[in-house]
Amino acid sequence: MSATETRRHDEMLQAADRLRRGGLVAFPTETVYGLGADATDARAVARVFAAKGRPAFNPLIVHVGDLAAAERLAVFDPVARDLAARFWPGPLTLVLRLAEGHALAPLVTAGLDTVAIRVPAAPLARDLLAAVGRPVAAPSANRSGQVSATRAAHVREGLGADVDLVLDGGPCPVGLESTILRTDPLALLREGGLAAEAIEAALGHAVPRDVTPGKVQAPGQLSSHYAPNAAVRLDVVDAEGDAVHIGFGPVAGDMTLSATGDVVEAAANLFDMLHRADALARARGLARIDVAPIPEVGLGRAINDRLRRAAAPRIAQP
Ligand code: TXA
Ligand code: MG
Repeated sequence: MSATETRRHDEMLQAADRLRRGGLVAFPTETVYGLGADATDARAVARVFAAKGRPAFNPLIVHVGDLAAAERLAVFDPVARDLAARFWPGPLTLVLRLAEGHALAPLVTAGLDTVAIRVPAAPLARDLLAAVGRPVAAPSANRSGQVSATRAAHVREGLGADVDLVLDGGPCPVGLESTILRTDPLALLREGGLAAEAIEAALGHAVPRDVTPGKVQAPGQLSSHYAPNAAVRLDVVDAEGDAVHIGFGPVAGDMTLSATGDVVEAAANLFDMLHRADALARARGLARIDVAPIPEVGLGRAINDRLRRAAAPRIAQP
């Protein structure tokens, strides 16, 4: 290795180490720079949302090194396997059903039962994923509402000190986010770096478009989105004994999103805790989950947005 290659390799290993310790690392893929976090670490994933300033918990794309790693996280139907074999590594993201026993933090999928997953082609991304040995959740490395970053300098300008480390791999060759495809039912969810025509040629037929703007922006509106079986009531300070009480800060509750009142920690716990509260309500024969007030600051806004959806009147109870 040349001196430059050795330095790059050392930086890559340092980035992998940062990711394994819960850090945020921006890294180049062939499409755009990603803002990466260990996808199995809820707190690290929550920090991604905080850094991006996302108004709601949009589900993130999970990056893995190869098909075998992807198959530990998602269920591949024949179409998905065929497309993965043809187009991975590359700018194609597949939306698939979560596999049994996947280790992903629920926040990665925003509580959905599907996961968006891809194997990037950029050499630096591939080396990084191999060194991390874990799935890496990474949205585009820009603040919400801003243009995606295709150079390391864009990332530094946009996200600044909110990123622990920026791996510089030069400009991204594709410069457009990946194409997102759901296989069951088959639909193109986002046009991107892999032309739809290439997918259609591979499949031998047309692919229906489902690129309605804003459609997946609000996963809480999707019918498949997780909502607890129990009813949800917000801003409850005093427990009344007829509900499972989720606490925050000074409100202890039966369980707490964050005893110290930290909204980042609360975001990391949110989806998991709704599942746990629901199970506890079932076990105790209670029909409601009460949630302590969460301040409307930082990730608190996204948490409240998600909680309001969970608390909204339901058309039908499952
Ligand atoms: O090229 C790319 O895809 C880049 C690089 C970093 O890989 N990543 C990227 O991520 O563009 P992001 O977070 O900016 O876009 C992710 C998109 C969002 O529109 C999100 O709603 C959608 O993927 N998505 C994620 N999980 C989904 C799911 N389970 N179902 C439907 N859409 C999903
Ligand atoms: Mg984006």
